[in-house]
Amino acid sequence: MSTQAPVLDMDKLNAFVGQFVSDLGAAGHAGMVVIGERLGLYKALATGPMTSAELAAKTKTDERYLREWLASQAAGGYVTFDAKSNKFSLTPEQVFTMADEDSPAYLPGAFELAVGSLFAVPRIAESFKTGAGMGWGEHDAGVIHGCEKFFKSGYVANLMSAWIPSLDGVQAKLEKGAKVADVGCGKGASTLLMAKAFPKSKFFGFDYHDGSIEGARMSAQRQGLSENVTFSTASAKGFSGTNYDLVTVFDCLHDMGDPVGAAKHIRESLAPDGSWMIVEPFANDEMKDNMNPVGRMFYSFSTLLCTPCSRSQEIGLCLGAQAGEKRIHDVVTEAGFTRFRRATQTPFNLVYEARP
Ligand SMILES: C[S@@+](CC[C@H](N)C(=O)[O-])C[C@H]1O[C@@H](n2cnc3c(N)ncnc32)[C@H](O)[C@@H]1O
Repeated sequence: MSTQAPVLDMDKLNAFVGQFVSDLGAAGHAGMVVIGERLGLYKALATGPMTSAELAAKTKTDERYLREWLASQAAGGYVTFDAKSNKFSLTPEQVFTMADEDSPAYLPGAFELAVGSLFAVPRIAESFKTGAGMGWGEHDAGVIHGCEKFFKSGYVANLMSAWIPSLDGVQAKLEKGAKVADVGCGKGASTLLMAKAFPKSKFFGFDYHDGSIEGARMSAQRQGLSENVTFSTASAKGFSGTNYDLVTVFDCLHDMGDPVGAAKHIRESLAPDGSWMIVEPFANDEMKDNMNPVGRMFYSFSTLLCTPCSRSQEIGLCLGAQAGEKRIHDVVTEAGFTRFRRATQTPFNLVYEARP
């Protein structure tokens, strides 16, 4: 073995260590955001500047813990600190992203999802050796709730304003009264938003995880939407109903073990002139073109959540969260769809339209 010390480029080394410090801070910060959301700290801070003692009194929390949390938030740029008055506050942008649950850019759910998914690390490490899968419902509850909250913001921002209008003739059908299946609907964030926007249409949400379906039913009741929404536990290959004008799958085709089988079932369930909207994470076809912060985020979650979910089901195709358009096209056409196109996109999502 050579005893020669490696020649290091100190600038590259320093840049890498700098990135590491940011990443390590972010790893701990994820837990801080979950605490802040759970205890209503951001919402309380959104009401105006206050000292740690004032925030502790308002939120009935321990001032010492709170002071440490506030310092971490201010150091990370999630809370603003004024050294003169010794008060903490939120800027309008921080309120918009951290304190307003209905905002199209509400972020805490993403950290809840991240923290929840980390509970699976020991099991997934073992799966690297055994190849075993892990079903969606086997994860920590933070995965299920965080996913709903985080994804909902994206749907609030894009679904009605851009994604549905990008499909051929679908908006007009929904306004008139259409029959819609939302497959792999999770806790129903997308289903409920559509049901609210299109009261003349009937929506049927399906997911193979009964815990998510229970949550979706409760949300439908809370929002007074039970009239035009029904949620049922069913797999993408076995959900009931025919003659759907629209079938939607939001961020879940790549999680399925047999996406081709699911696509075949969806084609059979559609009306002859029906449409299938497929929302997937943004990805380029080649891995080398996904080497960026968005790709890093999706590949990491894909290792902990999406790939094990697919692997736990029959066939276990494991498309991964960075499948890209070409692989989705192949799945869709293998199932017999004759038309497929990228209807629209955002920095985080690709939206496809498939027709029988
Ligand atoms: C990333 S979550 C997305 C949930 C929801 N569509 C949303 O956007 O909030 C993936 C969902 O796919 C569901 N899923 C995975 N495989 C499935 C299958 N074969 N049939 C039905 N649902 C499935 C999971 O239970 C989970 O709810």
